[in-house]
Amino acid sequence: MNKIKDISSLSREFINQLFQRTTEIKEQWPNLSLEKNKTVCLLFWEPSTRTKLSFEHAAKKLGFKVIDFSPEHSSIKKGESLQDTIRTLLALKVDGFVIRHPEDKIINKISEWLPEDVFLINAGDGNHAHPTQAMLDVYTMQEHYQDLKNMALTILGDSKHSRVIPSTITLLQTMGCNDVSFLGPKELIKNEFVPAYHETNDGCLANKDILYILRIQRERFLKSESVNEADFIANFQVNNEFLKKTGFAGKLMHPGPINVGMEIDEFTAGSEQSLILKQVENGLYIRTALLDLIT
Ligand code: CP
Repeated sequence: MNKIKDISSLSREFINQLFQRTTEIKEQWPNLSLEKNKTVCLLFWEPSTRTKLSFEHAAKKLGFKVIDFSPEHSSIKKGESLQDTIRTLLALKVDGFVIRHPEDKIINKISEWLPEDVFLINAGDGNHAHPTQAMLDVYTMQEHYQDLKNMALTILGDSKHSRVIPSTITLLQTMGCNDVSFLGPKELIKNEFVPAYHETNDGCLANKDILYILRIQRERFLKSESVNEADFIANFQVNNEFLKKTGFAGKLMHPGPINVGMEIDEFTAGSEQSLILKQVENGLYIRTALLDLIT
């Protein structure tokens, strides 16, 4: 297994092994003595802070040489295709790729272009998948609620345009957690995401363990789509008033980047209830463990 395209192709055994290795790496950090002597290329066609830099940090910690491919400063600008770019990088003796791209499921095409011994990790493709975000999220949930079967999670905000949510739901199902509900305006939740609630009633989140918050992902809206931001803030922004009204007393998570003042306020994002920076930190350990396991 050296091509991580989405969560559905991964077994529970693989995830358990990954989480176990992640914990070992977390306990040993920063004193890891691994020397991979391989080269990884980071190809990010879309902006990223957490995913790209944690992969870079992880790869360097494992002894990889890191090539940072930047489309704006490459021959893509002179009309070179993605496939020819990959061919060129293979000729330059790259051992593997971490790729983010705006096209849905492009990771499947790229995977077919690569020889068997070249590794590949999907760092987010269109609305399709973001498997390493799901891995770090579920790892973080498991740290707090060891028995995921009994954990209740509500996803708040723009799940419709999220590539994280399909990956996270699949991984939660793999781990035995099925108590997942959705909260937010109708226009930000897909019909197949059920149960879905469109009002914040008194005490509606009192029995939930995790509130997983998503920003409005305008970059993936179709021209015909819109949302009223003032209504969104009034009804769904996670702040002190919202927490009191809904009775939510569990942990807050968010894949980032957060839009402070929109889906969450600054105080709440930095409060004791928030695991947002724990998620970022665990992302470093998960990605180190994943690179270690598949190479
Ligand atoms: N969550 C996430 O993918 O963040 P970045 O876009 O900063 O990598």
